[in-house]
Amino acid sequence: MAEKQKSWQARFSQSADALTESFVESLSFDRRLWKYDIAGSIAHAEMLAEVGLIAKSDAQAIKRGLLAIGEDIEAGRFKWDTACEDIHMAVEGALIERIGEPGKRLHTARSRNDQVALDLRLYTRDAIDLDILPLLADLQVALVASAEQYAEAVMPSYTHMQRAQPITVGAYLLAYVEEFERDRERFADARKRVNICPLGSGALAGSTLPIDRRSVARRLGFADVSRNSIDGTGDRDFITEFLSAAAMCAVHLSRLAEDWILYTSTEFQFIRIADAFCTGSSMMPQKRNPDVLELIRGKTGRIYGALTGMLTLTKGLPQAYNRDLQEDKIHLFSGHDTLRDSLRIAAAVVRNTTFNVEHLRVASQFGFADATVLAEYLVGKKVPFRQAHQIVGRLVAQCEQAGCELRDLTLEAFQAACDRIEQDVYDFLGADNVVARYRSEGSAGPEWTRKQIEFWKEHLAKNT
Ligand code: ARG
Repeated sequence: MAEKQKSWQARFSQSADALTESFVESLSFDRRLWKYDIAGSIAHAEMLAEVGLIAKSDAQAIKRGLLAIGEDIEAGRFKWDTACEDIHMAVEGALIERIGEPGKRLHTARSRNDQVALDLRLYTRDAIDLDILPLLADLQVALVASAEQYAEAVMPSYTHMQRAQPITVGAYLLAYVEEFERDRERFADARKRVNICPLGSGALAGSTLPIDRRSVARRLGFADVSRNSIDGTGDRDFITEFLSAAAMCAVHLSRLAEDWILYTSTEFQFIRIADAFCTGSSMMPQKRNPDVLELIRGKTGRIYGALTGMLTLTKGLPQAYNRDLQEDKIHLFSGHDTLRDSLRIAAAVVRNTTFNVEHLRVASQFGFADATVLAEYLVGKKVPFRQAHQIVGRLVAQCEQAGCELRDLTLEAFQAACDRIEQDVYDFLGADNVVARYRSEGSAGPEWTRKQIEFWKEHLAKNT
């Protein structure tokens, strides 16, 4: 059964122990790379023919064979040979079985070390281009649409989770759009370091054969080839960077989830998430639980786990390829899958959430959310801000005693606190007056909410 032997078997006098075989295999999880393994091999074979290392007819046979294998895998009829250690051996083994001799020429000037580095870079590039960036943009589009719907609606804001100042719902939602924009920038930037072709690095030292690495890189759409063959095989920074960007993005998703979990509660009643995105309780009939949001928050742990796993995996490695690196896929796939699923459902939740505008308006009127604006009113009347702060602080204390809001005070009461206060003070009090008066660039009133919405609509139309 010479064909069934491992490709590296020749120098061994014993075949591997069954436990060893099952311990070192990665086919069970790296078969997910098949598309990239095949694309990389086709580009490699075409290059080998181009430089005369193999015959053109061999390259054509290899290409046909690999495409047929790809079709079989895609259709689910490919028989995975579980005796194969990994995807690279499975594909190459099947190719040799199908086309014979030419198949044996494919691995010329190539090692699984640069092959796996190539496959992972192709995979990560697709993960960024086909999943993460479009899903982030779609989430931003959903948030901007909601922001537009609620551009003028007022809501209370919080710092330290205590009532702060009234803001528009639109401005609140656009804060998340900013976060996700930075995520897009981080992934786009990481992509620059992903999009480098390592093939031709060989095991770590390159090859004595006259291969054309740039031809392979061009065929696979890479921007460049890696400069150093040792780094070309040992580098997994691009995975760690991808996961780091994923972890940061998960922070943002998790914070959004946390806010909205609070906002759906009876205590807040700020938003309502459509039934299809809530779940019930097996015991308490009245419950409508925000499980989707809780799981977005919870799955963040998996993404941090993937990043931590990758950092830990690589921290003690000697230079170049070490078999430990086989584990990188577990972290990459887990981080990618989890973030993709969370982003997808987050956009759906955003599209299926309504803000209780009336309730938010009423809530905004209480808790002295207009105190800061009253102090700014006094600044307008030439009172130094520190003094204004004290005057308003005393007025708030007075209101608390009386169980009323600032707008309920009589003009006499205001003037007793500060004789600069006039009748126009009432135009500054109450949430609606406050938000309408925000004027500084980027502030949280309707004026800048609208301007930001215009910016995002144009920016997202141009940059997605
Ligand atoms: N399955 C291996 C991995 O995922 C491929 C590279 C194996 N290289 C080696 N010399 N054993 O990392």
